[in-house]
Amino acid sequence: MSKSVTYQNVNKIYDEKGKNPVHALKDVSFTIEPGELFCLVGPSGCGKTTLLRATAGLETISSGKMFYGDVDISTIPPYRRNIGMVFQSFALYPHMTIFENVAYGLRVRKVPKDIVKKKVTEVMELVGLQEELKRNPSPTALSGGQQQRVAIARALVYDPDVLLLDEPLANLDAKLRRYMRAEIRRIQKQTNITTIFVTHDQEEAMAVGDRLAVLRKGVVEQIGTSDDLYSSPQNAFVSNFIGKMNFYNGSLVSVTDEFAEAKVDTTEITVRVPRSRVHLEDPSKGDIVLIGGRPEQLYISKEKSNNSIRGTVKIIQHLGSFVRYEIEMPPEISKINFEIDMDSLQKDVKEGDEIEVYMKEDKISLFSPDGREL
Ligand SMILES: Nc1ncnc2c1ncn2[C@@H]1O[C@H](COP(=O)(O)OP(=O)(O)OP(=O)(O)O)[C@@H](O)[C@H]1O
Ligand SMILES: [Mg+2]
Repeated sequence: MSKSVTYQNVNKIYDEKGKNPVHALKDVSFTIEPGELFCLVGPSGCGKTTLLRATAGLETISSGKMFYGDVDISTIPPYRRNIGMVFQSFALYPHMTIFENVAYGLRVRKVPKDIVKKKVTEVMELVGLQEELKRNPSPTALSGGQQQRVAIARALVYDPDVLLLDEPLANLDAKLRRYMRAEIRRIQKQTNITTIFVTHDQEEAMAVGDRLAVLRKGVVEQIGTSDDLYSSPQNAFVSNFIGKMNFYNGSLVSVTDEFAEAKVDTTEITVRVPRSRVHLEDPSKGDIVLIGGRPEQLYISKEKSNNSIRGTVKIIQHLGSFVRYEIEMPPEISKINFEIDMDSLQKDVKEGDEIEVYMKEDKISLFSPDGREL
């Protein structure tokens, strides 16, 4: 039976009584559903590994509680938590065969020999290594992707309640990594073991997870499906971490219960945004805001109008189904170049050209400028 994992106001302060305490997890509270494939994603140092290690019991927490199902596991030692864990480095035993590597967790649990054989065979089939198992070499004689499969098999073989994966694909090359994303989803769906997958790569998190939690500096910024996070990011940080968001500097002109109107700095251009896409606490006239549009929510044209802003085309990248234009904007509007995606190559637009930038007004969102940086 799969189990849920719940965090209740979990705090972790490293070196709490020392000179340089680090508040690595701040009031983390959420629940992962039984059988869910859940991703923790965020920039380096945001607390992903700390949360995973705390879940496994390898790190004590400073305050708060953690549950597997209804059971409070906050103070239960790691070896009694029935956790499977996979690390970035694989951490296989080079002096043992792959059979013995996978069997290890069963041997420790004193499982009878015939059942060990059966379980190892089953799990190696699950991860697609049945042929390698017949040869049964040492893990050093396998490719990186195969070694990672052995590591996954080793973590799954004793039917853990929860499977924890910390950057499991980081040591693989780009192509294999993309392939293994789908493999991990397949294996997880087949076993239905509640799984937490840590990565700093937003694309990987979106591809792998049923749901994602975006962490920043120890705080859970937002939780949702890839679609929730991409379509309805709740703040500027999430919007620019899960996918790209271009920001115009602006100010709020008016607010009602239904709409807010914002003006792009130093221009007369205004946008009217429905209240559901206004992510400001207590908005009021005159507030400084960021006007956000994703690459596909802006467009370029040679035609100038009252609603356009002139920028300079820096780089044009043909990316298969779309073309990405990197545009330098006037510095008072944005110091960071915009990325604008067009369905097709604009034949008359070259790198170095001046170009007019427009918003698809019905798609635009407003954010508070706080915490925009990664
Ligand atoms: N043993 C430790 N003692 C003191 N501080 C630590 C310790 N381990 C981690 N930290 C700090 O806690 C914070 C969170 O670290 P953590 O390893 O959880 O980040 P992460 O999100 O896994 O990052 P990465 O993507 O780089 O692996 C960081 O500021 C880190 O420096
Ligand atoms: Mg880490």
